[in-house]
Amino acid sequence: MICRILLLIILTSCVSGSFVVNVTQTSYQAENSHKITLEWTFTTNPDRSTKTLNILCELFISDKSSVLYHVHEGVEVSESQDEKFSGRVQSDKDALREGRIRLQLSRLRTDDSGLYLCEVNTDYGFSVGRCRLNVTCFHTSNLQTVSPQPESRESQHIVGLSLVLSVLALVVICAVLCLVGIRKRKQTLTSVSEMKPIRT
Ligand SMILES: *[C@@H]1O[C@H](CO)[C@@H](O)[C@H](O)[C@H]1NC(C)=O
Ligand SMILES: *[C@@H]1O[C@H](CO)[C@@H](O)[C@H](O)[C@H]1NC(C)=O
Repeated sequence: MICRILLLIILTSCVSGSFVVNVTQTSYQAENSHKITLEWTFTTNPDRSTKTLNILCELFISDKSSVLYHVHEGVEVSESQDEKFSGRVQSDKDALREGRIRLQLSRLRTDDSGLYLCEVNTDYGFSVGRCRLNVTCFHTSNLQTVSPQPESRESQHIVGLSLVLSVLALVVICAVLCLVGIRKRKQTLTSVSEMKPIRT
């Protein structure tokens, strides 16, 4: 696979500079479960039909490659897409006509991190554009201690808070009851002394 990348790089530098594939960003940073749009631009030729357009976008991680987008003779080929990306890649067909490959990758996972390469092959030129994606775990940078899930920590906080609140409420209720009790006792004491003659 590394040989293939090298070959592509060599091929790109050999082919005349009139046809290019650019990246709008050389590196992307995203969080787990979020989405991101990777974008490449390539030289268009209004005189040529889109039937001659071939695109292959792949993710390279060390020695493995997975296809995320494939256009063969102007038509998207979903069958060649790696199941890793199944249902998670959305392409922008209008942008494609203007020479922009816009791929929205959703439900990002940390193993989506790596080198993304798009080869564009037309009858008027061939080139490759590459960018890097780094998907990090949600909020990992904010956690100081090793905690399995930030949510569980949050819920612990909530449980703690509600415990404190209920204790406070109990104290208040007790205080109110005590006050009411003292008043009632005073009242009953006075009423008992008044009622004594009626009861007996
Ligand atoms: C590619 O980038 C170069 C340099 O920034 C720019 O001159 C050229 O117009 C770009 N081509 C495309 C097709 O995006
Ligand atoms: C990915 O992002 C994290 C967090 O910003 C950073 O620590 C790490 O070095 C990055 N990895 C790469 C390969 O860029």
